Amino acid sequence: MDVTILKDSDAVAAAGTDLLRGVLRQKPNAVLGLATGRTPLAMYQRLIAVCCDEGFSFRDVTTFNLDEYIGLSPDDPQSYRAYMKRELFDHIDIDQGNTFLPECATETDPLDVGPAYEALIRSRGGIDLQVLGIGHNGHIGFNEPTSSLKSRTRIKTLTRETISANKQYFKDPAAQPQLAVTMGIATIMDARRIMLLATGKEKAEAVRQTIEGPVSAMCPASILQMHEAVSVLLDEAAASALTLRDYYDWIAEQKLRIAGNTEGR
Ligand code: GLP
Repeated sequence: MDVTILKDSDAVAAAGTDLLRGVLRQKPNAVLGLATGRTPLAMYQRLIAVCCDEGFSFRDVTTFNLDEYIGLSPDDPQSYRAYMKRELFDHIDIDQGNTFLPECATETDPLDVGPAYEALIRSRGGIDLQVLGIGHNGHIGFNEPTSSLKSRTRIKTLTRETISANKQYFKDPAAQPQLAVTMGIATIMDARRIMLLATGKEKAEAVRQTIEGPVSAMCPASILQMHEAVSVLLDEAAASALTLRDYYDWIAEQKLRIAGNTEGR
């Protein structure tokens, strides 16, 4: 894992933006996996600000979101479709016909959504870069602790902890869904490259278990240790429980030294 510890959440958003721009520079028609929640918001703001500058464009990009609630219509402001439109899609030059979420229309059997989503991802050539946040309990997407590390897109029952963490977004508690469709852990692991963003002290323990803990379904994000191209971007607060902090700083110094030596070659 490539662990980068930055001064604050703004620096994390800037580094995430740079990484994503780098992927699109190399492959303008890349397939992106996107996340919702508080964490990626600052990065989405930056992407909106730079979109369409210097030829940087989302025109040919396809996106697949990690998850969507069951029981909310796409126009419900709390649906992840509405979030994506509000926070990113309506402000960039993406073709919204190429933006996908594992949505479950009322007439669809929820059990069919997962396999259909997997087939759609495959038909678009797979995900080039998957953006992830992390839950307090180490979940990625809505893969809660004890999710199979081999899971595919499917229905998940949210933990009480996740429901409580997200209740701030629902005025009427009765309207908050308890079920979602989420990409599976194996679906996420199929992405060619992964970028995990985490900010704030409340994520510090989940981040420690992800990077330094054993690989375990009790911390679903820990499976990322088995992926060959993961960048973890942390602010100081989210990195505060890491035990090998000196080592990550040492690696960062070496990287700067190597970049200095190779500059201008
Ligand atoms: C949510 C989402 C995840 C997100 C996580 C953290 O429940 N399903 O995709 O990464 O929880 O959210 P936040 O960034 O708001 O802390």
